[in-house]
Amino acid sequence: MSDHNAVDIAHKLVAPGKGIMAADRPSPAFYDLLAAEGIPGDSDSYRNWSEMLFKTPNLNDCVSGIIMTDEQVRMADGGGDALLPQVIERGMIPGISPFKGMVTLAGSDGETVGSGLDGLRQRLAEYAAMGVGFSKWRAAMQIGPGTPSYYAIEANAFVMAQVAALSQEAGIAPIVEPEVMLWGDHSIERCFEVTEFALSRTFEALYLHRVELEGALVKASMVLSGSDCAEQADIDTVAEQTVKVFRRRIPAAIPGIVFLSGGQSDYHATAHLNAMNANYELPWKLSFSYARALQRKPMAVWGNRAENVPAAQAALLHRAKMNGLAALGLWTDELEGEAVA
Ligand code: 13P
Repeated sequence: MSDHNAVDIAHKLVAPGKGIMAADRPSPAFYDLLAAEGIPGDSDSYRNWSEMLFKTPNLNDCVSGIIMTDEQVRMADGGGDALLPQVIERGMIPGISPFKGMVTLAGSDGETVGSGLDGLRQRLAEYAAMGVGFSKWRAAMQIGPGTPSYYAIEANAFVMAQVAALSQEAGIAPIVEPEVMLWGDHSIERCFEVTEFALSRTFEALYLHRVELEGALVKASMVLSGSDCAEQADIDTVAEQTVKVFRRRIPAAIPGIVFLSGGQSDYHATAHLNAMNANYELPWKLSFSYARALQRKPMAVWGNRAENVPAAQAALLHRAKMNGLAALGLWTDELEGEAVA
């Protein structure tokens, strides 16, 4: 099928110097995060946080779209006005994470798959009518002894492709996210192998589901040494290996690849993205779709206090600007100003 709305949106999401803010942490996980900061979590704090993020002045200079939860797309701000239209007025495209949490994949040894396919066709039509322009669906693949299994990779690829096809049917641009997780003591070579296999199976499934690649984006993890690996690959090696695996397995018809940060430091998430864009000629746009690498610092200064909102928004805008420059290959250490973690 050909869906020009999805094609148009996919291109807008990776406009030069722009990326995506992933704000789709569900409220229970958000409350856990607040509790870790010693702040009680309730629906008001979730609203205050979402409102602070979405209304950051000038965020649309470097953020093209925001991934939201079902709760957030229906949310009103503190003054009672719906937030979603305000995101659009501010020049950003609202996106939805329609999944209902990770569940254990039956028959696997504890591997996971996203849930929430029931009724998804109707929900996507409703989201599209609300003004949502894109969707995101994640697979989480943990490298370990015997994992990710062939079965888990195939099952996740199939589900992601179903969601992508349903999204395009609703005129929504899908983002498929086969995440190879950072955690573990594996080498960068093992990460490369797993990423290559997961991408190849994902694109096979997209083909079977007749997904129009021109109207879809990939949300990818970088090829990295495991977090506990004794030998950590340097920035240039990460950039080289990540570009290499994408060239092998991601067709040029895809308008863009947007990265998750996956637990990388703010500095590394920006430096890696910049190194790829600065040093390689690429057939697709490479940009960001970060949650933690944009929101870590804002979360540290916010504290659910109205007087901290400007500082939290300034911290968010700074990271968004740095990553916008990295999407152009124009970021340098010196532009950071103060030290970045
Ligand atoms: P991180 O950048 O924190 O990995 O989150 C990305 C993501 O997938 C959330 O939608």
